[in-house]
Amino acid sequence: MINTNPFAELSASIDPVIMQTYIIVMVVLVVGGTIFDMVHKKSAQYFFAKMETDKAKAKREVGGGEKISLAIQTALIEGATSSEFCNPMRRIAHLLGMYGFVLYVATTAIMVFGFPTPATPTPEILPTLWWIGGLMVCVGGYWFWFFIRVDVSAEGHSPFRLVRADLFIVSLLLSTTFGLIWAYAQATGGGTWTTIFLGLYLLSTTVLFGSVPWSKFSHMFFKPAAALEKRISVANGTRANLPEPADRTNPAVRDSHSMELLKDAPQSMGLGIKREQPRHY
Ligand code: HEM
Repeated sequence: MINTNPFAELSASIDPVIMQTYIIVMVVLVVGGTIFDMVHKKSAQYFFAKMETDKAKAKREVGGGEKISLAIQTALIEGATSSEFCNPMRRIAHLLGMYGFVLYVATTAIMVFGFPTPATPTPEILPTLWWIGGLMVCVGGYWFWFFIRVDVSAEGHSPFRLVRADLFIVSLLLSTTFGLIWAYAQATGGGTWTTIFLGLYLLSTTVLFGSVPWSKFSHMFFKPAAALEKRISVANGTRANLPEPADRTNPAVRDSHSMELLKDAPQSMGLGIKREQPRHY
């Protein structure tokens, strides 16, 4: 089952051209939805205006080469390792979901466009990676949904309570779950169930890619841009108008007014509010 291209099998009942057109429509919905979101919220306008004001306030100029280096660091650190997450469990769940989704989407597109029917045999690695990607999304996503997210773990709400902000994670999980169940049903001769799960798979996938302006989907494009902007603001000294972190090993800082009370305090003062999880509901 995990070595079989489910889309090539499906070509017996649905023309591959229809499947390919569906994928193109989904790509158009994501691109269009992201542009609509940027125009509607004026986020790009805000982003570029802020870049300009920061440039004027900059304590030093960040050159082109340095910007490229900062962009590479952002891609490798914030992008590839989800370094913005403080909670290690949440970070692992995000990494599973992120890499799983990339694998799942990429292998879907390669199989549908490159190996649309059994006449062009699919390399076995592709469907296997499709299954692994889908399962990674499910493991990371359900772990996050039932145990890690703040609504459940810190605020004590039921994991079954839904709000609009959940649109992305819910449609992502339903799309991958129904996709895997459909492929399983098809491979094991599931009859009517195959058609039912194919319908649910298409419906949830259309919601996932069609709801970009209302969901968190486009954070995968905006978050790296915001992380890069943050790195540039540290490099040029504007730091979003925040002071530099205090270095109490430096006598000049230690003797400054706001640090006076901490003059004789130990360098490390323990975990503070991180000593326990915020579970006081
Ligand atoms: C295929 C790509 C991606 C998928 C499927 C994905 C999925 C998700 C999901 C399901 C969440 C909600 C879970 C949570 O808050 O822990 C989330 C949140 C988050 N993601 Fe991603 N993500 C992707 C790419 C990225 C990238 C490239 C970045 C940053 C460079 C990023 C940064 C974040 C951050 C910072 C949050 C927390 C947001 C908040 O608390 O408001 N994600 N992501």
